[in-house]
Amino acid sequence: MPVISVANPKGGAGKSTAALVVGTTLASKGATVTILDCDPNQPIAAWGKGQERPGLRVLSEISEREIISAIDAESAERQFVLVDLEGTASRMVSRALSRSDLVLIPMQASAVDAAQAARAVGLIREEEQVIRRPIPYRVMFTRTSPAIPTRAEKAIVAEMQRNGITVLSTHLNERAAFKALFAYRHTLAELDPEKVSGVPAATENANKLAGEVVGVVRQLIKGEAA
Ligand SMILES: Nc1ncnc2c1ncn2[C@@H]1O[C@H](COP(=O)(O)OP(=O)(O)OP(=O)(O)O)[C@@H](O)[C@H]1O
Ligand SMILES: [Mg+2]
Repeated sequence: MPVISVANPKGGAGKSTAALVVGTTLASKGATVTILDCDPNQPIAAWGKGQERPGLRVLSEISEREIISAIDAESAERQFVLVDLEGTASRMVSRALSRSDLVLIPMQASAVDAAQAARAVGLIREEEQVIRRPIPYRVMFTRTSPAIPTRAEKAIVAEMQRNGITVLSTHLNERAAFKALFAYRHTLAELDPEKVSGVPAATENANKLAGEVVGVVRQLIKGEAA
């Protein structure tokens, strides 16, 4: 079933957070999900260590040699496979991209980050040439304010669209609850709303984002989206 990689050569773009939020949200809706933690810091492996969650499997310490077989084995068995990649261009990243049905490129809404996201799209284009098939991707804005978008943010979105870069309409907003997932090693549903502010709003944001990602994947399977 669909393999969704989360990639951006820029460090700290929000890849691991996005992979964890989307993966745990899909599992909370009853899907079988594997997250392959290919971030050298292994944040999702540390998050899930020693804990069992229904529908969710986290695999880590996957080498460059093993990545393709790991992706193939999990996608044969599970409804969704998410691959959290490292923040550099590497052979590991390129192998994961080559096996992806969709690549999510998280980026913050700044001009500097937009340039880095364009680099991420460039890496996907190179990989497409190698494997001779299109690799669909979507840029996903992260850490934006849940309030009305700023003018600068709108200008960046417009500029990316002008350059033919496809952007998800749902952002992963800046929320204490998303940071708290790693701090407490909890899912959104497990967080204590007394200790962490904005859990319901973060959950709503996560549901909307996961819903949009699933919609894109469904369209891709039907051959309706590029
Ligand atoms: N939506 C968000 N709300 C609040 N904090 C966030 C959000 N997204 C990311 N962060 C914080 O930003 C930092 C970087 O995020 P994250 O680790 O997800 O990025 P990354 O792209 O995986 O980094 P790396 O390239 O190092 O793997 C972390 O401290 C994380 O908690
Ligand atoms: Mg990471």
